[in-house]
Amino acid sequence: MGTIHVMEHPLIEHKLTLMRDKRTGTKEFRALLQEVAMLMAYELTRSLPLAEVTIETPVTNAQFRVIAGKTLALVPVLRAGLGMLDGILNLIPAAKVGHVGLYRDHDTLQPVEYYCKLPSNLQERDVIVVDPMLATGGSASAALTVVKRHGAVHPKLMVLVAVPEGIKKIQTDHPDVDIYTAAIDEGLNEKGYIVPGLGDAGDRLYGTF
Ligand code: PRP
Ligand code: URA
Repeated sequence: MGTIHVMEHPLIEHKLTLMRDKRTGTKEFRALLQEVAMLMAYELTRSLPLAEVTIETPVTNAQFRVIAGKTLALVPVLRAGLGMLDGILNLIPAAKVGHVGLYRDHDTLQPVEYYCKLPSNLQERDVIVVDPMLATGGSASAALTVVKRHGAVHPKLMVLVAVPEGIKKIQTDHPDVDIYTAAIDEGLNEKGYIVPGLGDAGDRLYGTF
């Protein structure tokens, strides 16, 4: 079974609280999402393996460590996942980026796929699927299925806010996937919105109310 990592950090919690406030406008919401994503990426990459290399400094040769292993591939789920991308790329600029386009049908709450463009050789990369909201879990589960279909092995899922329903869905559909979230909220309302949540992440990010 995949692990749930709740990324507790005062800065992450503070910024997420500001994002939850309905008075926070699009410009500030967008900036905050990038900042939180960068902080989450810092925490998520804490366990990356290191390898020894020999470096010639201006003074001498010596052994130091650099990040080893696979290159990262980030896969934001369109649209709202895009709001986290630049924050992560600030820390990991060499990451490859794929896009999966999914929207949640307002009536059925089922994900509808409309776009997919992924880096080659996903099987050789550490893949992180990125989406701020894990509600019913339908969208994230479908995105994980897509990246696995293209070769991803044990992809990770990074979200801002999750609820138990979405976590259960991922654990059922993708028991190999570790979930990284900034918060676990109470649950879903009758319209499938996270409570207390922050509303529709895509709409708040792009001002499409
Ligand atoms: C939001 C969010 C997730 C999805 C979560 O996207 O960004 O992708 O809802 O809900 P789920 O867990 O119940 O599937 P939305 O469908 O609003 O599309 P958008 O990003 O294009 O606004
Ligand atoms: N998608 C969102 O953007 N917000 C929610 O609360 C649920 C799904």
